Amino acid sequence: MKRLFSILSIICFLKMVSYSQEINIIPKPSNTEIQQGRFELTSNTDIVSARGSKLHNYLQAQIQELIGMKLSVVKSTRKSTSAIKLTLNSKSKIGKEGYEIIITQNCCEIISKTENGLFYGIQSLLQLIPSTPVTQCYIPCLKIKDAPRFTYRGMHLDVSRHFFPKSFIFKYLDLLAMHKMNVFHWHLVDDQGWRIEVKKYPKLTEIGAWRPDDTDKPWNYFVYATADKTKKLYGGYYTQSDIREIVKYATERQITIIPEIEMPGHCAAVIEAYPELSCSGKTWRKDETLVWEFSDPLCIGNEQTFEFLENVLTEMFSLFPSKYIHIGGDECKKSTWLACQKCQTRMKVENLKHEDELQSYLNKRIGKFLASKNRELIGWDEILDGGIAPEATVMSWRGMEGGIKAAQLGHRVIMSPESYCYFNFPQTEDSIKQDKYITLEKVYSFDPVPEKLTKKETNYIIGAQANVWTEYMINEGQIEQMILPRMTALSEVLWSDKKNLNFDDFAKRLGFFFPRLKVLNYNYFTPKQEK
Ligand code: ACM
Ligand code: ZN
Repeated sequence: MKRLFSILSIICFLKMVSYSQEINIIPKPSNTEIQQGRFELTSNTDIVSARGSKLHNYLQAQIQELIGMKLSVVKSTRKSTSAIKLTLNSKSKIGKEGYEIIITQNCCEIISKTENGLFYGIQSLLQLIPSTPVTQCYIPCLKIKDAPRFTYRGMHLDVSRHFFPKSFIFKYLDLLAMHKMNVFHWHLVDDQGWRIEVKKYPKLTEIGAWRPDDTDKPWNYFVYATADKTKKLYGGYYTQSDIREIVKYATERQITIIPEIEMPGHCAAVIEAYPELSCSGKTWRKDETLVWEFSDPLCIGNEQTFEFLENVLTEMFSLFPSKYIHIGGDECKKSTWLACQKCQTRMKVENLKHEDELQSYLNKRIGKFLASKNRELIGWDEILDGGIAPEATVMSWRGMEGGIKAAQLGHRVIMSPESYCYFNFPQTEDSIKQDKYITLEKVYSFDPVPEKLTKKETNYIIGAQANVWTEYMINEGQIEQMILPRMTALSEVLWSDKKNLNFDDFAKRLGFFFPRLKVLNYNYFTPKQEK
């Protein structure tokens, strides 16, 4: 009995105290030096806030969520015997988003020139403490110096094909933060639903955000006109107040939200609400003979289209502080313009030889409007066709070629090729529903910088992004299962030095990352090699 008691107390002790010498941070820091000794984190440890920083509250909440300890926040270390110190130091030599962590026996200090850097230091520190409740934990004394490889580290989410509530967007942003990703590309509008309140055009959400509920059918066979209209409607949208809340939440996590307002294709939801903006004046969804194809685009010959777009964008400026605004531009059915008198007149007057040039006319005009409001245009790589707008940034999705061409022309590029970055494709061959799959190892092998670029051209590649199209994802758990752990691999590709990338080492560290995801209530896929 006595013996059993002592075994139980040893097990209990192990649960209350945690210590590991191994450093398993993802994404892998540029430089880590383990030193003699260890720092003891207990409920008596104080958080010492940097002057002007608001991050102490965030750190306090995160530690409490992980290990159940609520640490006190104090202004100076004078009375603390054990402290986690956040220090903003304008003289720090490490780059804009970089940070240092110095852990000694009494103090764990995160130092950066910027709030962004402190935030990323906190993310690393959180990975040095356990993800289960303990009353005491030890962290090895060490020095970390770290800074990202790319300035643009993005995740996209399509909320048009299926709508996801505000609570999930918060959860998604937390995931980005944990992975040191700094851009959320929000695909807010598409044929299947307009998802953001626009005060000037209420029908966009009154009509465009709803459709007959056919979510039980594969999306490719979804035909609005023939759907069972007796069923309740499916859909939803974010109010402007929701958007403000979400943008604030993202900003607190050093994440910029780039809204995407698709034009001139993928606009069936707009045209359903305002048919006068199409070439035919008819809505697309009511055509009972139609099977799925690219939808009819906006009419570029019609001045009302530009008035509409500028008014919508103006409301976006008041909601999103992002310098970049994404205007889509992909997969546009241009044949419609050939049969439209207004579009043909526009082409004649503007001396445009081809429909590609008509789309380029729209891009350039919208690009000029954005520039006049101190914003910049991003578009999918189709914006290269017919002549790219000045200062436009290209998001290369149909492979890397669009990105290569844009960089050679001196335009900024975000790489997002289908073959590595489309997390809507399955993770294994055996789960295949579509014609492609992308494994964890394949994502890890992705290099956003193509070898054939010169050094100067390489500077135009600002980073990369994974896309999450939700035609086949109808609930939150499915999204998490599709993006995790591929997003974890991509975060390391985008943050860590190329020389530090090693898949086997990553896979080992991933084994320590999974329990953290579990505690934080994320669903994830377990690839075979990690089982
Ligand atoms: C895209 O996947 N159509 C950008
Ligand atoms: Zn037209």
